[in-house]
Amino acid sequence: DRLSQVQKYLEPFHLSLEKLQEISARLKKDMIRGLGKHTHNKAAVKMLPTFVRATPDGTESGDFLALDLGGTNFRVLHVRVVEEEQKVLKMDSQICAIPQEIMLGTGQQLFDHIAACLGDFLDAQNLKGQTLPLGFTFSFPCEQKEIDKSILIRWTKGFNCSGVEGKDVVKLLKEAIQRRGDYDIGSVAMVNDTVGTMMSCGYRDQSCEIGMIIGTGTNACYMEEMKNVKRVEGEDGRMCINTEWGGFGDDGSLSDILTEFDVQVDKMSINPGVHTFEKMISGMYLGEIVRLLLVKLTEDKLLFNGQTSEALRTPGKFQTKFISEIEEKDNGLENGKKILTELGLKWDLVDVRVVRLVCDNISSRSARLCGAALATIANRIRTNHGLDHLKTTVGVDGTVYRKHPNFSEELQATVRLLAPECSITFLVSEDGSGKGAAMVTAVAQRLVQKYL
Ligand code: BG6
Ligand code: GLC
Repeated sequence: DRLSQVQKYLEPFHLSLEKLQEISARLKKDMIRGLGKHTHNKAAVKMLPTFVRATPDGTESGDFLALDLGGTNFRVLHVRVVEEEQKVLKMDSQICAIPQEIMLGTGQQLFDHIAACLGDFLDAQNLKGQTLPLGFTFSFPCEQKEIDKSILIRWTKGFNCSGVEGKDVVKLLKEAIQRRGDYDIGSVAMVNDTVGTMMSCGYRDQSCEIGMIIGTGTNACYMEEMKNVKRVEGEDGRMCINTEWGGFGDDGSLSDILTEFDVQVDKMSINPGVHTFEKMISGMYLGEIVRLLLVKLTEDKLLFNGQTSEALRTPGKFQTKFISEIEEKDNGLENGKKILTELGLKWDLVDVRVVRLVCDNISSRSARLCGAALATIANRIRTNHGLDHLKTTVGVDGTVYRKHPNFSEELQATVRLLAPECSITFLVSEDGSGKGAAMVTAVAQRLVQKYL
């Protein structure tokens, strides 16, 4: 029947346990290459030092601002760290839209917009007279020189503002604020969203040493031994490394598992050839992979009586959130019918089941690939510590992880298979990464005060 014919198209998306183990072994090699002093320039997995060494010790306190840029929403936050209660409180926050023209405009436009959003927020909060330190979650690969010097390597996901790559993002932000001249900010700490997420969970669970995002993009960070971080001087203690695992495969190392649909998604993206692994996994791309498969199946007369619709032929029209809705346990088929109707398609019941099967295969592959990558990191931490068994916590965030009905289950099952000697607790971050960014700022301030 039709369902079994469709299976043939889905086979390339199935990854055996053996294949996942191979992928994990390749990632392990790439991570070592990325950490190396002389090899990191050529590494697809960048393993960026973050200059986050210390985790909160509970003596931090004060008021902070936080910016959170690069996920679905751009947020401005006011965060208070209370020493006695060892609490991080979100006092208030505001979402500020970033129009498409700005995401693809000039860097100056982007930073002027950010500075304007922050200015409006400070007005609304009556904070303009104060000079508060600021934690900046900036979810793009940056070569960090210090906690407050962070050079954008390249844009990823939907952003592509001119004149920012190769520049210090802190400087661009400060210049934009100076151009306005109506308020000022104190010291700045830059963090990737994975780091902000790890730190926000770290306050609740001291053993949190990994941060993972499965949202618009995908990435993870973890605490690495300084002696293995060959690019930064010093042998003692640990430093958080932003792996940028989204770039895994950019040197061709994943070509054996790429399907024709992955190749097409890459070609049509604003950054072809870049972030191969991310394009098989994250929210920015999953809907598009499903759409391309549905078009192909329709062309081959296995769906919708061979009739596509204008919407189905339009890139981006099959949103990633549809996958979650269609895979819902109880209402999935009903949701599917509604979605297909809205896409202008004439469906029968088999069509709806086929679409659900396609969604299920695409999201499963994503979850299993993420699971394999996370297992690689957990195994690395375990061997770093010379342990037979590792108990650790991962702070997680991202719409795909939060919203998909069984993504987390499938991811966790894969990790158990590939890292059987690790027991991992998954902690979804509360209120996003902003609190974590504020924590990093607070820790940095505490350390500065100590050394003054
Ligand atoms: C948010 C974090 O909750 O999740 C951001 O605050 C992060 O820092 C984002 O980038 C990732 O998820 P998404 O789905 O919004 O890309
Ligand atoms: C992209 C970015 C990375 C970020 C991830 C999740 O992969 O390059 O820095 O952490 O998306 O938002």
